[in-house]
Amino acid sequence: MSLLRIKEGSALLEVPQKVVEHITEKNEVFYNPAMAVNRDLTILLLRVFVKEKDRPIKVAEPLAASAIRSVRILKEVPNVEKVYINDLSLEALKYARKTLELNQIDASKYEIWNEDANVFLLKTKYFDYIDIDPFGSPVDFLDATAKALAHRGIAGITATDTAPLSATYPKTCLRRYFAKPIENEFYHEVGLRILIKKIAEYFFQYDIPIEVLFSYSYLHHFRVFVKRYRGARKVDEILKNKIGFLLYCHKCLYRSALPFTDLRNIDLTCPVCGHKLDWAGPLWIGELWNTDYVEQMAKETKHIEVKDETKKLLTVISEESKLQTVGFYTISSLGRALKLPTLPSKKFLLKTLNAVSTHFTGEGFRTLASHKKVIETITRYLSGKSN
Ligand SMILES: C[S@@+](CC[C@H](N)C(=O)[O-])C[C@H]1O[C@@H](n2cnc3c(N)ncnc32)[C@H](O)[C@@H]1O
Ligand SMILES: [Zn+2]
Repeated sequence: MSLLRIKEGSALLEVPQKVVEHITEKNEVFYNPAMAVNRDLTILLLRVFVKEKDRPIKVAEPLAASAIRSVRILKEVPNVEKVYINDLSLEALKYARKTLELNQIDASKYEIWNEDANVFLLKTKYFDYIDIDPFGSPVDFLDATAKALAHRGIAGITATDTAPLSATYPKTCLRRYFAKPIENEFYHEVGLRILIKKIAEYFFQYDIPIEVLFSYSYLHHFRVFVKRYRGARKVDEILKNKIGFLLYCHKCLYRSALPFTDLRNIDLTCPVCGHKLDWAGPLWIGELWNTDYVEQMAKETKHIEVKDETKKLLTVISEESKLQTVGFYTISSLGRALKLPTLPSKKFLLKTLNAVSTHFTGEGFRTLASHKKVIETITRYLSGKSN
């Protein structure tokens, strides 16, 4: 079997040639080069996190595969006491050991475990950082994560089951995440917010409040970093203000986020065009980013080697995080809904609506302007064009 030597960040890795060419869950691939951006962002976030700690941090990677992530954490994040590397597959751990050896990681800096991820977490708790990076949905691992995370610890959670979350399989979404997704121009954002709601529920049931530090959608995955705190009262506050529903008009694109309520008592008539409103949720209607973290993560790109895609994504999110609206517009959806003969340029919209770009799609923008103002601005622009 021919082995290929790869460098990602500052870590070296040897993988069979076929691994890089063809990746599926079935062929038991333990290194996915497409997830380098995911790992880059993890390192950047952890480099910010360790600065707020006055002691070295304890890290867990319960689904470690090749251990590339753990090795990068040990090499690229200062002040890490130890990384606990776990995988259920002995084959994966073979690769993990090789990666540790290849990178000459000191044996005192890691422990290797071969357990189910949940058993591992409960046996080894507590951790300052837990990374959940499964094939598919992370729901299997959320309860143990909530139980094993130390006070003021962070969990980084990946979901690759974006299809149910993004309304391709609404029944699966309801079963798995107990929420209704929606087919609209910002379905990915809705999916990410449903995932955050699900993660939050696992913490809230134990009276643990959370804050979303960073989240994003990229290619075929969603990723969320949450930080945990203490206090049932704080949970009550978050439940009141940050979990709710999205109301949405498929005809004129009106949208509105409302706190958790009995939807049967809500008038589901679009206040702008009178059409019947659709809805999505329950979902997270709070912030998707802690702007301080985003700013500091962007600065950290100067100090470590990350992919150009990571830098690009972070640049857009730095701008996007300044306007944390629920939902965004896209030029093409506005064109379809308003039956526009020509489409306004993004530059024009960004300027006149004080809008920002979104990382979810290149043609998307967020604005604090009311829906009426958005429609008026575009209509005015077009009448100006036809004069
Ligand atoms: C997507 S890979 C992890 C990739 C890795 N975190 C990275 O950054 O490269 C998922 C891994 O989870 C392991 N796995 C699946 N179910 C598990 C379970 N219940 N407990 C522990 N490991 C499990 C698989 O063997 C596989 O190696
Ligand atoms: Zn409407």
